[in-house]
Amino acid sequence: MSEGYYNSKKTDDICEEVCGQQASRVALGMSRLRCILRGLDFKTYIFLFVVVPLCLFGAYLHGQKITYFLRPLWESPPKPFQEIPHYYHENVSMETLCRLHGWGVRESPRRVFDAVLFNNEVDILTVRWKELYSYITQFVLLESNSTFTGLPKPLLFSLNREKFKFIEPRLTYGTIGGRFKKGENPFIEEAYQRVVLDQLLRIAGIEDDDLLIMSDVDEIPSAHTINLLRWCDDIPPSLHLQLRNYMYSFEYYVDNNSWRASVHRYQKGKTRYAHYRQTDVLLSDSGWHCSFCFRHISEFIFKMKAYSHYDRVRFSHFLKPSRIQDVICKGDNLFDMLPEEYTFQEIIAKMGPIPPSYSAVHLPSYLLNNAEKYKYLLPGNCKRESG
Ligand SMILES: *[C@@H]1O[C@H](CO)[C@@H](O)[C@H](O)[C@H]1NC(C)=O
Ligand SMILES: *[C@@H]1O[C@H](CO)[C@@H](O)[C@H](O)[C@H]1NC(C)=O
Ligand SMILES: *[C@@H]1O[C@H](CO)[C@@H](O)[C@H](O)[C@H]1NC(C)=O
Repeated sequence: MSEGYYNSKKTDDICEEVCGQQASRVALGMSRLRCILRGLDFKTYIFLFVVVPLCLFGAYLHGQKITYFLRPLWESPPKPFQEIPHYYHENVSMETLCRLHGWGVRESPRRVFDAVLFNNEVDILTVRWKELYSYITQFVLLESNSTFTGLPKPLLFSLNREKFKFIEPRLTYGTIGGRFKKGENPFIEEAYQRVVLDQLLRIAGIEDDDLLIMSDVDEIPSAHTINLLRWCDDIPPSLHLQLRNYMYSFEYYVDNNSWRASVHRYQKGKTRYAHYRQTDVLLSDSGWHCSFCFRHISEFIFKMKAYSHYDRVRFSHFLKPSRIQDVICKGDNLFDMLPEEYTFQEIIAKMGPIPPSYSAVHLPSYLLNNAEKYKYLLPGNCKRESG
């Protein structure tokens, strides 16, 4: 006889003794339950009717946090990048810089295409294009009247086009109609828009060995990084750019783990616009990734709804303007989530608000030259304009 069977048999016996009643087959289940309850002490009642429901309620509120916290158990970190050292100083010649990277310098620079899918980041797009202005052959921008989550969206670039007069002669602009498929995975709409961006690049006249920057609007390569890559020979056919991660503004420096932006030497029929990992090579310290860097609270709300991870807006109060303003000024998380890391050590190290940074050194020059206009992106100015 196995011990498990013996134990449960014994429990039955005890219960029969305690209750001392014979129940019909139908009532047996109920009376067993009553037996068990009668056999329990007060502490156990508290546990069953107070602690357990509280835990369940807590799990409902924080279920996502719990899964994120346990992530190191069910997901192992991706293969590490092969990070290549990045050398730069404004007073060092291009020939020397190329040589330091093990590359030769070219007679003339490559042409560079900057291609983005536009959502609603008007200010950040301005900072981006001012930063890259001198080195870009064609600015390619596509916008849809649908967000990735299938919500209708005004053509915001088109409405603000006069703000981008400075690049107008070098602009290839395209629009597409959304498919508005209800309940579809947002990544499908995103992938569809990226395919159209490939067509727009051909219309813009991209040729073999031209450089193509693939990145979101808010992933801004530094001008000197692009200048280096267009002047040096023998750079890898594609490489990712390591960017400094900021949240809400350049006041909240998170880490330098942004890697999705990439630069490619274009190959007709082979290069496809993508925003996932495409190679193991990562060029160190190549720019900035400013997430949720908006001027108005209404833009935060729009982005939270339009985001590919709309499932993160678990409660409608997440979208309350006063809450969003508080979250920004505290450096907290908009979605009340835990850090997405692969080891417990990193999760714990990054829990809680992002500490403010007072450094505005090595930021896009346009920001500092127009500090009054873009005050909200600089340290010490977390209050947003209403509207
Ligand atoms: C820049 O280079 C020039 C010429 O080599 C040198 O005279 C000057 O001191 C350098 N400036 C800085 C800030 O390093
Ligand atoms: C989106 O754009 C397409 C193509 O221009 C148009 O047919 C469609 O009516 C638009 N939808 C909305 C909701 O604006
Ligand atoms: C990236 O961040 C880590 C940890 O904060 C730091 O040790 C490292 O020097 C940083 N690298 C660059 C290129 O900024």
